[in-house]
Amino acid sequence: MVATQTAAAPLIELRGIGKRFPGVVANHDVDVTIRPGTVHALVGENGAGKSTLMKILYGVQRPDDGAIVVDGTDKVFRSPSDAIAVGIGMVFQHFMLADNLTVLENCVLGAEKLHGIGGRARRTFVDLCARFGFDLDPDVLVEELGVAARQRLEIVKVLYRGAKVIILDEPTAVLVPQEVDALFDNLRDLRASGHSLLFISHKLDEVLAISDDITVMRRGTTVGHADPATATKRQLAELMVGSELPSPETAESTVQETVMLRLDDVSLVEGERAVLDAISFAIHKGEVLGIAGVEGNGQTELVEVIMGLAHATSGTITLDGEDITAYTTRARREAGIGYVPEDRHRHGLLLDAPLWENRILGHQTRRPSARGPWIDRAGARQDTERIVEQYDVRTPSIDTNARALSGGNQQKLIVGREMSGDPVLLIASHPTRGVDVGAQAAIWDHIREARRAGLAVLVISADLDELIGLSDTIEVILRGRLVGTFDPATVTPAELGAAMTGGHD
Ligand SMILES: Nc1ncnc2c1ncn2[C@@H]1O[C@H](COP(=O)(O)OP(=O)(O)O)[C@@H](O)[C@H]1O
Ligand SMILES: [Mg+2]
Repeated sequence: MVATQTAAAPLIELRGIGKRFPGVVANHDVDVTIRPGTVHALVGENGAGKSTLMKILYGVQRPDDGAIVVDGTDKVFRSPSDAIAVGIGMVFQHFMLADNLTVLENCVLGAEKLHGIGGRARRTFVDLCARFGFDLDPDVLVEELGVAARQRLEIVKVLYRGAKVIILDEPTAVLVPQEVDALFDNLRDLRASGHSLLFISHKLDEVLAISDDITVMRRGTTVGHADPATATKRQLAELMVGSELPSPETAESTVQETVMLRLDDVSLVEGERAVLDAISFAIHKGEVLGIAGVEGNGQTELVEVIMGLAHATSGTITLDGEDITAYTTRARREAGIGYVPEDRHRHGLLLDAPLWENRILGHQTRRPSARGPWIDRAGARQDTERIVEQYDVRTPSIDTNARALSGGNQQKLIVGREMSGDPVLLIASHPTRGVDVGAQAAIWDHIREARRAGLAVLVISADLDELIGLSDTIEVILRGRLVGTFDPATVTPAELGAAMTGGHD
């Protein structure tokens, strides 16, 4: 009997892959089958083991168990060059380009033997860009490029090396909606020419829009395969999280008349440049104001001037009727600001201190972590127990060091701490970045609770779905200025994306 090769014969099979790191099972019993000429999505929450599996397929990591079968043959990849040799390439989450070289030089670097360095290399590069619709100028320095162009270059680099299978690890995490559309156009062109793509994401809309097959991972293993033609977002999300998700609450307005936070003409000039330029807005009691923007457009500085970590060059900041422009950070906290910082590892937590000591951080002058001038250990410990309970922080005990907790649990602890002491304003910077889906839902619930309790809430986020889901009003920041006010009930991510990149007027 001779088996007829059908179009569905697998291109790559990962069979029973396992990978352990000290104290962590990153992958176990992983099975994935990739058909030729398809976009195969690999979805799963943070820490599910997606990147580890892809690094194994690309020869960066060696598996402890299992087999990699390419075109019916068992392969052992000792390094990425073994994977490249059979046509597998990978674009990592963090790009690896030399800023001080041109686009073409970056592409050719390390692959001189393939297409030379002169006119032939240039022709190959230009042809590849034209064929798959990649908009790239070969002669500009990479330091001039934005994130989306850097990503295009990384993909062309992999194609230049002859890849037929391209692994893209969370490629859309750094893109605005318009850039995602452009990337998807490129991916469709690649697929049409017979390439296979492994697309990693946890954004289910994107996965359903682009993929032919879906594999879901949870806790290091594959828990399901789905057909995007019939799968729903909810089914996929439940496979990812492994339990029922809380349903989104119906958003009734809780906005009251009293203004809690007001910024009037606030500017921050650094050197010659206004990083914040005449910012004015008000947040009322019970209102969530969302700030959307491409990272680096003044969001960080805006939070810093409100928190007193930087001092406004001009303008005034008023909290609950009180001019706090000249206050120290501590005085602002005492006046009722809770603050969930952008980088929880650098500013939100002492990773090598136990949870109960982290409860005191930033709250060392107030009850229950202080009694008069003294730190109140017992008070802090007791209140940490309350936060762990109320905010569902999964930890062996309050004496566990913060470092041992997952990102989601660290963030729940911070939110719990910042909500204590009756704040009137909560500032949450990227509150769910890098946390798992379950913790994300919990944090959203806590923000909605704060809103219902009458706090004013300022949310800064790069996740437009998050802003639309949480906010009563959305402001877009671009080059230090507020450039548009949007109603989350009617605005689309594409409209926000246009405003964020200056395409809106
Ligand atoms: N080099 C490593 N050393 C130790 N642990 C690791 C390493 N790489 C990944 N892990 C752990 O393996 C698990 C899976 O991680 P990863 O594959 O990055 O997941 P994902 O990409 O789905 O977020 C996580 O618990 C992570 O901390
Ligand atoms: Mg990953």
